[in-house]
Amino acid sequence: MTGAEDYDEIARKCVPYYGAFYGTVLDFVTKDDKKILELACGTGMLTEMIVAKCPGAQVSCIDSDAWMIKKASANPALSGVEFNEGDMRNCSGNGYDAVVITQAIFFISDPDRRKLISNIYGMLNEGGRFISGDMFAPETEFEKKIYKKNWIDLMLSNGLSLPEAENMIAPIDDFCGINTIRSFSKELQNAGFSPVISPYRWGYYGVVAGYR
Ligand SMILES: C[S@@+](CC[C@H](N)C(=O)[O-])C[C@H]1O[C@@H](n2cnc3c(N)ncnc32)[C@H](O)[C@@H]1O
Repeated sequence: MTGAEDYDEIARKCVPYYGAFYGTVLDFVTKDDKKILELACGTGMLTEMIVAKCPGAQVSCIDSDAWMIKKASANPALSGVEFNEGDMRNCSGNGYDAVVITQAIFFISDPDRRKLISNIYGMLNEGGRFISGDMFAPETEFEKKIYKKNWIDLMLSNGLSLPEAENMIAPIDDFCGINTIRSFSKELQNAGFSPVISPYRWGYYGVVAGYR
């Protein structure tokens, strides 16, 4: 992982098919949404897309890293967004139409993730959505090998050196643990979300959307 300063540039080189990944997350935030919460917003890359799509919405964000929050808050395009430094595990409130997270669910433990999912369910309006675009564990060793090779090839084609690319994905299996798209979707269902769909997958990257 990297610091707030060069985060966006690195992300564009390392997140596979950046536009398709974030674009799919964004597909599930609708123009009619009035109250949107983004967890672990980082520098606000997705936030900027959300604000552009939903100019009238009340958008708030939480991230535990003061530098990320500082960088996001300094972006004039995000002047209407409320940024809070804090732990997403403590998020609360109600009346949300959408709660969104990208590339961050793996930072919390399995029990904390289940608790967070349940909290989010309670925070959403009827018809509200929890949209998670994240890295998920592959189901098999066979997939793992292929996905890692494809990801490294993609980063090389974006200008990273082989050691940089290998270094970038070195902790990926530890990050993902046993959280597969299938098990994560099941956790959403167990919390009451229905339907739960997974509209996107590329290697370790996936998008899961659960409806309240
Ligand atoms: C890889 S970045 C992703 C940022 C952004 N969502 C994106 O897609 O560009 C992970 C972010 O999660 C934040 N984070 C990690 N654990 C957190 C927690 N428990 N509560 C809130 N934010 C957290 C980090 O500070 C970091 O900004």
